[in-house]
Amino acid sequence: MTKIINGKDISTAIRQEIRAEVESLPKRPGLAVVLVGNDPASQVYVRNKERACEEVGFYSEKYTLPEDTTREQLLDLVDQLNESPAIHGILVQLPLPKHLDAEEVILRIDPKKDVDAFHPVNVGKIMIGNFDFLPCTPAGVMELLSRSGIDPAGKECVVIGRSNIVGKPQAMLLLHKNATVTICHSRTKDLAAVCRRADILVSAVGRANFVTADMVKEGAVVIDVGMNRDENGKLVGDVAFAEVSEKTSYITPVPGGVGPMTITMLLKNTVTACRRIENL
Ligand code: GUN
Repeated sequence: MTKIINGKDISTAIRQEIRAEVESLPKRPGLAVVLVGNDPASQVYVRNKERACEEVGFYSEKYTLPEDTTREQLLDLVDQLNESPAIHGILVQLPLPKHLDAEEVILRIDPKKDVDAFHPVNVGKIMIGNFDFLPCTPAGVMELLSRSGIDPAGKECVVIGRSNIVGKPQAMLLLHKNATVTICHSRTKDLAAVCRRADILVSAVGRANFVTADMVKEGAVVIDVGMNRDENGKLVGDVAFAEVSEKTSYITPVPGGVGPMTITMLLKNTVTACRRIENL
């Protein structure tokens, strides 16, 4: 019988830990969330981030800017938040409208306040294993593994997807935990055969039912980072859960797996930023 990794329960437990930590701090951690435009999925994410800030006792600021916000207006806001003594973490929700350059905006965020860990300074630190901030989604996956008693050391880990937000940093975090890591992508030859080698398989593809039972080794751990809508608009992951869960030892569901952990890791990074900036 497979064990279902309950990201919601694990996330609730960590948020309680964060709340207790926040109460013990002499300064309230402050997070600013910036949303540009009207992307409905982003609106939901931003609302959830605001709610999470409240839940753990943070100070938070939310900026909702119109679709036609100029580059200068957005960069000015980032500058202002970089200087704000009440703000320790800045998150500019991606994707940005097409006329704005995400890379330029990320570069403008003070790396000390870059709680997404998207700034090249923080990406570089992750590469060399000097973690100020852990990238939120991959960090959430690592937390799910450790709190389920799964140690990646010496294991064959396969990550499907090579994005800068998930795939690449995920591979790096697993490597730092002494796993043997393979990153697969759209040009990988015989993807199913590579995936079948995995003791731990992490899918970050963004396609419903992409990972099927024939791609999974008996007894493997399968972590589903996918957030897709099926034909009925229902939230589903990348993994064909019913058939794959017949073979796994541990599996994460969607919803209720990796999803709740991402924001929780953002909260953790904001506490870290606050401690560093305030010398706590
Ligand atoms: N859009 C989707 N996921 C994320 C995230 O983790 N951070 C930001 N800034 N934007 C996102």
